[in-house]
Amino acid sequence: RDARIELLTEIYRSHAGKEPDAERLQNVVDGLETDDPVAEEDAETWAVLQRLAESLTADSELESLIAALDGRFVRPAPGGDLLNNPDVMPTGRNIHGFDPFRLPSQYALMDGSRQAEQLLERHLNEGNGLPETVALVLWGTDNLKTEGAPLSQALSLMGAKPRLDSYGRVCGAELIPLQELGRPRIDVVMTLSGIFRDLLPLQTRLLAEAAFMAASAEEPEEQNFVRKHALAYQREHDCDLEAATLRVFSNAEGAYGSNVNLMIDNGLWHEEDELAETFTRRKCFAYDHKGRPAQKPELLEEILSGVELAYQNLDSVELGVTSVDHYFDTLGGISRAIRRSTGDDVPVYISDQTSGDGKVRTLSEQLSLETRSRMLNPKWHESILSHGYEGVREIEAHITNTVGWSATTGQVDPWIYERFSETFVLDKEMRERLSKLNPAASLKLANRLLEAHDRNYWSPNGSTLDALHDAVEELEDSLEGISTNEVAA
Ligand code: BEZ
Ligand code: MG
Repeated sequence: RDARIELLTEIYRSHAGKEPDAERLQNVVDGLETDDPVAEEDAETWAVLQRLAESLTADSELESLIAALDGRFVRPAPGGDLLNNPDVMPTGRNIHGFDPFRLPSQYALMDGSRQAEQLLERHLNEGNGLPETVALVLWGTDNLKTEGAPLSQALSLMGAKPRLDSYGRVCGAELIPLQELGRPRIDVVMTLSGIFRDLLPLQTRLLAEAAFMAASAEEPEEQNFVRKHALAYQREHDCDLEAATLRVFSNAEGAYGSNVNLMIDNGLWHEEDELAETFTRRKCFAYDHKGRPAQKPELLEEILSGVELAYQNLDSVELGVTSVDHYFDTLGGISRAIRRSTGDDVPVYISDQTSGDGKVRTLSEQLSLETRSRMLNPKWHESILSHGYEGVREIEAHITNTVGWSATTGQVDPWIYERFSETFVLDKEMRERLSKLNPAASLKLANRLLEAHDRNYWSPNGSTLDALHDAVEELEDSLEGISTNEVAA
């Protein structure tokens, strides 16, 4: 019952932007009436909660499974994120993905535009000017969960929207007039995950067409940075406008990821620029408005040399930027490639759209927040450790992923490594516990902290460093099956 209250509270918050009345919520879960009538503006949210409370207890999955095995009909249902769309409940239905011709939805367009302005506002508040070029990482699953809000941000930054046919289906791009846009068209270099490219071919072409149309619009260059940069590139490289306007990059067909994550995991690299090189080699396939890829490493590097900020959305409460190695593989990878092209660190932002109106954080703020609320929070790491062997692997993964962010962006505060060391390695009781549960992962995480020191991502003092080395030796010994007691005896 507690889990249901927590889930429904979260849904109430995300719908209404405030806390639910505890007593009413308890009654909804218990199937009881509440005497006080519900305020009119909250009625819809409570109706959603009521419906969910019922479907959360119903066991519809087994029945559906049997129906399917019998060759009987299983009702269809939308797939997606429960917080975004309560209609995904009840489970046990035949999940359909989405209608590709309705993506982005009208709501996603509106919300994406709001999110893009939120990003620009944060960047301006940091004392920067309006960026001429931004780099945006787009994932497939995030766009499916939100009906295309992240890709709508790209459209909005360029001052474009989908063009609809007479049936209301997405069939191409259309420019929003400058007057309506109210600011210059911003140049956007988009790196699509392989999953995005595979799942959303129509949207891949839409984004490429939007960039081409923006560059083709006969508008003053100071009001249209896409055109400004495309014309400059064209003058320098003597190519047609279309070639100068390729902005949608991904892997070669059939390939996924930048491989920066693999390099970080094996640790066999010397210079951070090797990570940039790997990223660029993997992600330099430009997709045009017909969806055709062409390998364009020089073009990508040239566009990256003008990038003033890089960002990605965070669209699921289930994951943070250090939970999986894909965030630093994509956003970290491009940040490092930008650094190599510009010779400078550029701001990296996370647009957290997991609750309420969303919040734009610097990467550094996001990492601090996640580290405090997950890894260093006993409530979190104790519950992870209750999974035993796998729990230790999860803790190691967070540490490795943090090193991934240091390597690609240099924006991890050193205190994070200090606290990781204190909490998971230098605390004798914790160290022995982790080592018992998973000796290999315990050793790996301790070595990773030393690697982070070797690479100058933090500078422990002499005694901390000695203690870390001693701990690594002890962990090695227990991995090899030599217990200190036996040696002493
Ligand atoms: C994607 O949905 O595009 C994606 C998901 C997980 C890792 C990387 C990309
Ligand atoms: Mg030894």
